[in-house]
Amino acid sequence: MDERLRFGTPEDLDGIWDVFHLGFGAKDADRELWTAGLDTRRALVATDAHGAITAASHIRPFRQWFGGRAVPLAGYSPVAVLPEHRGQGLGRAVTAGHFADLRDRGEVIAGLFPASVQLYRSVGFELAGSYVHRRLPAALLGALRPAEPAAVRRGRIADVAAVHRCYDRLSRRIDGAVTRDGPWWSRRLPPDLADTVLYVIDHPTEAGELDGYASYRMASARPPYDYSVVVSEVQAATADGLRALWRTVGSSGSQAPDVDVIGAGEDPLFLLLGGADPTSVRSEIRWMLRLVDAAGAVAARGWSPVLRGRVDLAIADDHAPWNAGPWQLEVEGGEARLTPGGAGTVEISIQGLSSWWAGYASARTLSTTGHLRTADEQALATLDGLGASSAPTLVDFY
Ligand SMILES: CC(C)(COP(=O)(O)OP(=O)(O)OC[C@H]1O[C@@H](n2cnc3c(N)ncnc32)[C@H](O)[C@@H]1OP(=O)(O)O)[C@@H](O)C(=O)NCCC(=O)NCCS
Repeated sequence: MDERLRFGTPEDLDGIWDVFHLGFGAKDADRELWTAGLDTRRALVATDAHGAITAASHIRPFRQWFGGRAVPLAGYSPVAVLPEHRGQGLGRAVTAGHFADLRDRGEVIAGLFPASVQLYRSVGFELAGSYVHRRLPAALLGALRPAEPAAVRRGRIADVAAVHRCYDRLSRRIDGAVTRDGPWWSRRLPPDLADTVLYVIDHPTEAGELDGYASYRMASARPPYDYSVVVSEVQAATADGLRALWRTVGSSGSQAPDVDVIGAGEDPLFLLLGGADPTSVRSEIRWMLRLVDAAGAVAARGWSPVLRGRVDLAIADDHAPWNAGPWQLEVEGGEARLTPGGAGTVEISIQGLSSWWAGYASARTLSTTGHLRTADEQALATLDGLGASSAPTLVDFY
């Protein structure tokens, strides 16, 4: 590891806070909020000749669902360098400096929401999903009709634990969704439901369990309207449940004509809506992923249970050398593995492999951007046939 770097200790909290405070413009009054979720031992810090902290990066461990399996994810959150030390490679150093430790911990993938794509791409991350804020006309949602009625009722504080369990059941089918612990949940759905509206659908057979839920906040609106609806989350086990919950969310349109929603670029909601609004996107960013341990990551996610194939890869990785070299990728019966060796038919960068592994970019697309090179059309088609067929969805900004 770079000699300017070391892992943090609890005594480093003031120095780490100073870096994040200046990096993100956090107010002194927010210190408690910022530092409460920091585990200084998961921070990598850079120090100057006097031992003062000049840069820091912090990891939040999650598990992220891919192909029905929970894959250990190191979420970089946050990364910053003191203004007077920027432009000297410290941002890159505190990012890449974690890789060997993440691999030892079994955190086979790493992810982040980038402020600079190039910074993270230069150490092996690549785009893996979108995070889009839309403002939809409530009328579009209010017009949704379930084919069979679904009983939506107002949720109470006593339902909050069942919402967590419902998310745990439903999120495993969403590639890219992350597991949430208690403190993480309370940002999305306060345990006392303060300023939060909750609607739920009871599970048809299991008492105390839910089949779906919708939660939102009421925010200020553009005049002359009274308020707008800011959706926290809508999830349901059935298509009719989903329609019924979105309809409930959109039903306040006479007073709250705008509904703010965070979702992926290709949100499944668009497969339900009957109307189009080309002006709905307010902001759009993309998150990035890196295979820290390529062989571990290939083994950890779920693959198509009905496909079988083999491709010889030559992986290029300058910052995690254990990934570099020739590998044989084999997929069969919903499992896959990377075994050292083979002819290196498809040359692929770790950035390209990470994006393909996530289901974000196809091998063919990666061949047009230079992330992948091969003269073997069949190998390219095999790689695309074996890979995930739709881009992942992640709505937890970490
Ligand atoms: C972004 C930040 C961490 C970069 O730190 P740094 O030490 O200056 O970065 P490095 O010197 O290692 O630069 C690495 C690459 O990052 C990119 N980069 C650096 N600063 C950038 C900026 N302000 N805007 C866009 N890209 C930037 C460049 O591609 C650079 O490579 P190059 O110099 O070869 O072109 C630092 O500017 C910072 O702390 N900003 C405020 C907090 C923040 O945005 N953190 C990132 C959250 S994801």
